[in-house]
Amino acid sequence: MRNNKRTRSAGNYVAAGNYRDAEDYRRTKSTESLYFGDNNNGDNVYIARPARRKTSGNRRRSAKEAALFRRIKAVLCMVLFAFAVVICIKVVRDLGGGNAIAKEKVPDGPAAAEKSDVKVTGVQSEAAVTDTADKENDNGSVKETKAKKNKNKHKIEVIDGITYVDGILIANKTYSLPKDYNPGLDPTAEAAFEKMRLDAENDGIYLFICSGFRSYETQTDLYNGYVDYYGERTTDTFSAKPGHSEHQSGLAMDINDASDSFEGTPEAKWLAKNCTKYGFIIRYKKGKEDITGFKYEPWHIRYLGVDLAKKVEKSGLCLEEYLEITSEYADEKDNKKNND
Ligand code: DAL
Ligand code: ZN
Repeated sequence: MRNNKRTRSAGNYVAAGNYRDAEDYRRTKSTESLYFGDNNNGDNVYIARPARRKTSGNRRRSAKEAALFRRIKAVLCMVLFAFAVVICIKVVRDLGGGNAIAKEKVPDGPAAAEKSDVKVTGVQSEAAVTDTADKENDNGSVKETKAKKNKNKHKIEVIDGITYVDGILIANKTYSLPKDYNPGLDPTAEAAFEKMRLDAENDGIYLFICSGFRSYETQTDLYNGYVDYYGERTTDTFSAKPGHSEHQSGLAMDINDASDSFEGTPEAKWLAKNCTKYGFIIRYKKGKEDITGFKYEPWHIRYLGVDLAKKVEKSGLCLEEYLEITSEYADEKDNKKNND
């Protein structure tokens, strides 16, 4: 008669039973080996040896697992290392490369441009321009960005139809502003003017803005009026076609008297001497008419921020030269080509 019980041995329940012999057990259980001995009830019976603990098996699996973990760790380390290398390259490029200013960080005006890592370099030809185009997502809306850079690494970006060169908004004969771009007078530029006005007043000079922001529509009326009177060719020497006026950017202003009689006045002299201290440049300089595309306008100032205004002034260059850009209407360019 079999008297199978379960008995605890080294943490495992094994069959302990009253078997005739090992064969009897094997036929029944066919697994564990038996030994002859006390079954804890005082009976001498064949007792199943405690089932082998799974420790050695576990150990083998643990070793396998450890190897797997090591491999996973190595792969993770490699991925992290590669990630770190990519980040380092990006940081180095952002710090050192003028053309590596993050596109999504492109500022809206010179005040912001000053804060960013705007790199302005010397003057070289505008040739060898490379084109890139991409799309950016900003607050869910898709922005079209086109970027070019010339040999000298001045970055030319068109964001929502507005051109920035090294982060500086440009409106001239080559680069226009969208018809519906209506920012009003830039508050930073206005504050800079106010500071300048007060300081000028202390010097006995009275300055005021006679024309600040001009919308596309206002410029259209103005330009067309001039064309009616002077004709298009002459008008194009002193008045920008709609969309091409810096006044529409909100960063330009005419001071006191937008006419030739302003030249040589104490106000004009004071302005020319001091405006860069407040972040302005005289935008259309004498002798640079062929480059700016406009006649000398000692009354027209453009806000660039103090650092850049001083650099441009010190260079003796007009803004187009400084940024290595052109100022030509498309048809003027075509005419030039045909005459060459
Ligand atoms: N007088 C400047 C060029 C303008 O019309 O914007
Ligand atoms: Zn003006």
